[in-house]
Amino acid sequence: MTEKNFYITTPIYYPSGKLHIGSAYTTIACDVLARYKRMMGFDVHYLTGLDEHGQKIQQKAQEAGISPQAYVDGMARDVKKLWSLLDISYDQFIRTTDRYHEEAVAKVFEKLLAQGDIYLGEYTGWYSVSDEEFFTESQLAEVYRDENGNMIGGVAPSGHEVEKVSEESYFFRMSKYADRLVAYYKEHPEFIQPDGRMNEMLKNFIEPGLEDLAVSRTTYTWGVKVPSNPKHVIYVWIDALMNYITAIGYGQEDQANFDKFWPADIHMIGKDILRFHSIYWPIMLMALDLPLPKRLVAHGWFVMQDGKMSKSKGNVVYPEMLVERFGLDPLRYYLMRSLPVGSDGTFTPEDYVGRINYELANDLGNLLNRTVAMINKYFGGEVPAFATATEFDADLAAVVADNIAAYHKQMEAVDYPKALDAVWTIISRTNKYIDETAPWVLAKDEADRDKLAAVMAHLAASLRVVAHLIQPFMMETSNAIMEQLGLGSAFDLENLELSGLPTDIKVVAKGTPIFPRLDMEEEIAYIKGQMNAGKAPAEKEWVPEEVELTSSKGQIKFDDFDKVEIRVAEVIEVEKVEGSDKLLRFRLDAGDADHRQILSGIAKFYPNEQELVGKKLQIVANLKPRKMMKKYVSQGMILSAEHDGKLAVLTVDPSVPNGAIIG
Ligand code: MSP
Repeated sequence: MTEKNFYITTPIYYPSGKLHIGSAYTTIACDVLARYKRMMGFDVHYLTGLDEHGQKIQQKAQEAGISPQAYVDGMARDVKKLWSLLDISYDQFIRTTDRYHEEAVAKVFEKLLAQGDIYLGEYTGWYSVSDEEFFTESQLAEVYRDENGNMIGGVAPSGHEVEKVSEESYFFRMSKYADRLVAYYKEHPEFIQPDGRMNEMLKNFIEPGLEDLAVSRTTYTWGVKVPSNPKHVIYVWIDALMNYITAIGYGQEDQANFDKFWPADIHMIGKDILRFHSIYWPIMLMALDLPLPKRLVAHGWFVMQDGKMSKSKGNVVYPEMLVERFGLDPLRYYLMRSLPVGSDGTFTPEDYVGRINYELANDLGNLLNRTVAMINKYFGGEVPAFATATEFDADLAAVVADNIAAYHKQMEAVDYPKALDAVWTIISRTNKYIDETAPWVLAKDEADRDKLAAVMAHLAASLRVVAHLIQPFMMETSNAIMEQLGLGSAFDLENLELSGLPTDIKVVAKGTPIFPRLDMEEEIAYIKGQMNAGKAPAEKEWVPEEVELTSSKGQIKFDDFDKVEIRVAEVIEVEKVEGSDKLLRFRLDAGDADHRQILSGIAKFYPNEQELVGKKLQIVANLKPRKMMKKYVSQGMILSAEHDGKLAVLTVDPSVPNGAIIG
């Protein structure tokens, strides 16, 4: 007998900021599959976690003024809290700062070094700290050049700037394995899903010639050190990818879980990180002589109507807000139903509220309400035994059977929109069945009693089927349906059939709506308002309406505030102004065609004013220019905060581009 083990992983997330609904998508998608597989009798190991090393995290911690460890500890708490809110049923949470992981990574690195797959060399290239990724010139979205045409910088596809890095580095001989990888792709066309992505990888990265990969850095310290040469820190992606095997015991004393679960059945990832998972990771595994994961599923992105979610655009949607307002199930349902396999999906508040009202409250909620009410009215709550009696029963049964089969097929393919379409086909067909059989007419004639009983049994049976099928997606709703039908928690997804309705069950005396009807306009406006607030409700809750707000200037309307344009500006140069002990003269890049000049009376707070060069400040960009000290035009104002006789200019994260609007 083959063992029914199933190992599923999410990417491990960078703990570099609050997670939005897009980033939560992968984790919920894995959770759905993990729950489905458990219901199908598999012994599931569901791994998730955090990718805590690297330059980006080191910088974030520095900005926050705390140690990287304290920073990631805090983030790990927050992320776990979110996963608990979203009811993620992971079996293991790995952090790359876990001792066992760090030790195993160091050991593997030395092994690969000893066997010659890793060697020491010199690296010169373009690196994006935010992406923790090197780019070749042709991979960049934009390239900056000097007047002689030499490249002096550029922008990664993610929108983050790259910087030139030249340093001693270890390299992984990726090139050595290129042919083996291509052969593997050919023999395993199912390895990368959805179809088409494998070709993308071949065309864009492998066929042009696979370059050896720089796998260590010497310019920061927050990472796993190379034991035999500790000034080198192991490249964060090498460190991160290994989590999939270190988590289950590879390279450690107790390898039982590794033996049981490796190779992974699925690595679920976003399309942006497919290159690492489909090229570097398989090659690392080949070098270690380990089998490759069975399947990589690369999903698209959730975007907004105006493009990627970003705080500066004010279009970020946080899961906490949606769960607090509408409950967990609609969020899980919406995300899983709305992202078509292989492409991006757009989140809109209209769509969100619409799906709750039409699909959840109307189609499903009403079906349950009507069924429970009718069984109470016509049979005192007792569900009649399943039997066939009307001319519509056979078609309903066929549609249910076909769609149970379609559902399983789509779940295996991780095509959730189609799996849920199959469920909603059953729901619609069942609603139509009520219209066709018209139980209120059958109830009028005692001769139709058997028919009425069969109709009630079919309705309960169909809802039981639906409750099973949606269980991996919407646990609470599924449980509520079972509860209201008097079925408790007797799930059996493996042997699910319409006719499997147990006998002697009694529905609740009074059903409660599982989804309240929403006022569309009001709720859409609510979500939009929260998006613009750009803050998660948890933070906002600290300012309840009743509290009197302190302000030295009296209140203004939003329109008044909206007249002020605040922008990010990088300090290019700064100098003391001759003849003034108060003023500093700044040259700033605020995203304008040319640099702008601002004079600011903060000299005494920055005796060493050069420390400001390179900092990204906040400026009022649309202040009317004015002349100062007779000869200097000041084109804006630098924002700062004064307290206890001290003053600090307001800075922003270096990853925010110059000229970005703050609001
Ligand atoms: N740390 C790496 C993964 C290492 S795995 C060995 C990483 N982390 S991440 O935090 O940037 O992204 C985590 C996951 O969230 C990725 O699968 C990414 O594709 C996904 N998403 C982030 N934003 C997303 C959307 N807007 N929509 C859907 N998924 C997106 O990459």
